[in-house]
Amino acid sequence: MDLPYWNIFTPVARGIVKTAEIADANDPKAIRRAAEILRAGGLVAFPTETVYGLGCDAGNALAVARIFEVKARPRIDPLIVHAADTSSAERYGDFPQSARGLMEKFWPGPLTLVVPKKDSVPPIVTAGLETVAIRIPAHPAALALINAAGRGIAAPSANPFGYVSPTEAAHVAEQLGDKIDLILDGGPCPIGVESTILSMAEGAPCLLRSGGVAIEELEPLVGSLAMPAGPSARPSAPGMLKRHYATRTRLEISGQRPGEPRAGEKAGLLSLVRPEDPDRFAAVEVLSPSGNLREAAANLFRALRRLDSLGLDRIIARPVEETGLGVAIMDRLRRCAAKD
Ligand code: TXA
Ligand code: MG
Repeated sequence: MDLPYWNIFTPVARGIVKTAEIADANDPKAIRRAAEILRAGGLVAFPTETVYGLGCDAGNALAVARIFEVKARPRIDPLIVHAADTSSAERYGDFPQSARGLMEKFWPGPLTLVVPKKDSVPPIVTAGLETVAIRIPAHPAALALINAAGRGIAAPSANPFGYVSPTEAAHVAEQLGDKIDLILDGGPCPIGVESTILSMAEGAPCLLRSGGVAIEELEPLVGSLAMPAGPSARPSAPGMLKRHYATRTRLEISGQRPGEPRAGEKAGLLSLVRPEDPDRFAAVEVLSPSGNLREAAANLFRALRRLDSLGLDRIIARPVEETGLGVAIMDRLRRCAAKD
């Protein structure tokens, strides 16, 4: 390959910076290798049904510290422990009776439960809190990896802190490829937004983050849930920061009237269905031509990343109805649009 003369001095060209290998998540050999890397204290990005996670051995404080470093994530923002089954989950947290029905109905799946932690969880995982967030992911490759590693995996979403979560292996490779040990490629994540987080730690269940399990599905089991506060500079839960899931390009949610590009502005449009006025925009992303909110959630982060890569002046997002997964979609868009 011919490189421009200045390129031979870059760390990548000189072989100093290596990008992580991308291995097929369906290949049992790749899963075994990934599990060895985890047991040795390394970092592996892996697919889940929600978004790609950046995983390490949840019991290895040094490995967990590396995750915070690689993501540039503040140490006050705790991680989720991923387990393969309920009895393993119980090694990390104390589940109250009120959580049993939820575990039975939604695990494996996109529901994270916050419960009092057990001593087996190093304090760095929970950012010093007395509670721990735990979930059993529903993705076969994630389950195979946790089983092969024989331990819980602490994993945040595999993106630099504050940016949009990755829903494809290529998203991880682009942003963290030179900082981690292996990426397991399981194709696009079927749900596309992060897990719903429910705290069971103090009396009444409390919704900390909307996500892949819709609130309407939870309420028959836990009674009515207060909606989590919108973006706030002083979040009720750690990590629920106002500006989060954010593109570099400024994003605005249009009000009741369709978003208007300004004169001379290169604006991109994010719309649930095909817009009637596509020609007014430099780029358009349609989340679900049939208006299906599940399909829209699965396409949301890929669409945001694509619009963010085009050098636009502004992204205009048209709001979606806040039912089902529409609640999580609007939450992510509001956090992306928040000023800081
Ligand atoms: O779908 C998901 O949940 C993905 C996949 C990889 O499992 N993970 C994910 O992790 O979204 P992360 O770290 O990006 O977001 C986890 C959120 C953080 O905002 C964190 O503050 C919150 O969970 N969290 C973790 N432990 C907590 C605790 N003990 N109390 C309250 N919130 C907690
Ligand atoms: Mg995240």
